[in-house]
Amino acid sequence: MKQLIDKLYHTTGLEPDEYKTLIDSRNEDLYEYLAWRAREVRTRHYGHDVYIRGLIEFTNYCRNDCYYCGIRKSNRSAQRYRLTDEQILECCRTGYELGFRTFVLQGGEDGYYTDEKVIGIIRSIKKEFPDCAVTLSIGERSYESYKAFYDAGADRYLLRHETADESHYAMLHPEKMSLKNRKQCLYDLKQIGYQVGCGFMVGSPYQTTDHIVGDLLFIKELEPHMVGIGPFIPHHATPFAGKEAGTLELTLYLLAIIRLMLPEVLLPATTALGTIDPRGRERGILAGANIVMPNLSPKSVREKYLLYDNKICTGDEAAECRYCLEKRMESIGCRIAVSRGDHKACIQKTA
Ligand code: 5AD
Ligand code: FES
Repeated sequence: MKQLIDKLYHTTGLEPDEYKTLIDSRNEDLYEYLAWRAREVRTRHYGHDVYIRGLIEFTNYCRNDCYYCGIRKSNRSAQRYRLTDEQILECCRTGYELGFRTFVLQGGEDGYYTDEKVIGIIRSIKKEFPDCAVTLSIGERSYESYKAFYDAGADRYLLRHETADESHYAMLHPEKMSLKNRKQCLYDLKQIGYQVGCGFMVGSPYQTTDHIVGDLLFIKELEPHMVGIGPFIPHHATPFAGKEAGTLELTLYLLAIIRLMLPEVLLPATTALGTIDPRGRERGILAGANIVMPNLSPKSVREKYLLYDNKICTGDEAAECRYCLEKRMESIGCRIAVSRGDHKACIQKTA
């Protein structure tokens, strides 16, 4: 099996059946070897720098009803909120002081935020913080909207594909959402010029190894700049309340595989990973990840942006998380970089 890891390391790709074998025959020894290779590749491209992204969860209203998600439309028990433009800018100010040079605007698919409103927010952030990158994570929109946001100064876009398999997609989402549209959005975003991130949940309900192989092949084909993966964690007020969570072990294994497939990829050790294990984020970095995305949202709204149960850091101030993460990264020989942390292949857009 080590030959497969060597092949992946040297050629950055495997055949579908080889991925399947690599995943299904995983054990601790293989993981150690895989993670060692993945760390080597990460260090070659990014040294011991870990990039931080300041996450601003600016609305938890959502028109969608994904079966796994705590802020789905049908969850009547979610207390809904929206941040004002001024509150968003205030988060950026706090973040800038703490060394953040990327702000991620994440929210549900909220019709309140028309293109004009989003453009206004992007412009005001870029005006006050011209040396910072703005990442959007606001779901599916038209090509024209994506283009308008890009022209207003947005640099990056995160849109997890969730699963690359049609029938699995239909088990996770209501009928009116389609994988075809999701993939089209990702290709549109890439074509416009964004640094693009896709991704999926590890251990989502009904996920098989074949689905995961499909996800890896899709990722290889799309060649995104970023890949967000984290364990599925059930939320009590969703149809998947009783489903099992994904595992730390499989998530780490897949992080390492993705690092070898896309050597320069920007790969976060996600909050969900930190939620299922107290040292999950550190272990993610040791598996080849190189990003952490602490929360910059005001403390007052943190417990309201719950995609899953037991989410960490909901009671902590931005500064607490920033220093906590610094210590955590230092404990594994890494350091937090104060920079935009662009993908290697991307020439920085001028402000
Ligand atoms: N567990 C883990 N991740 C989740 N997401 C949504 N709900 C959950 C959950 N219950 C992820 C989805 C989405 C991202 C913002 O959060 O993959 O794209
Ligand atoms: Fe939030 Fe540790 S990162 S408290």
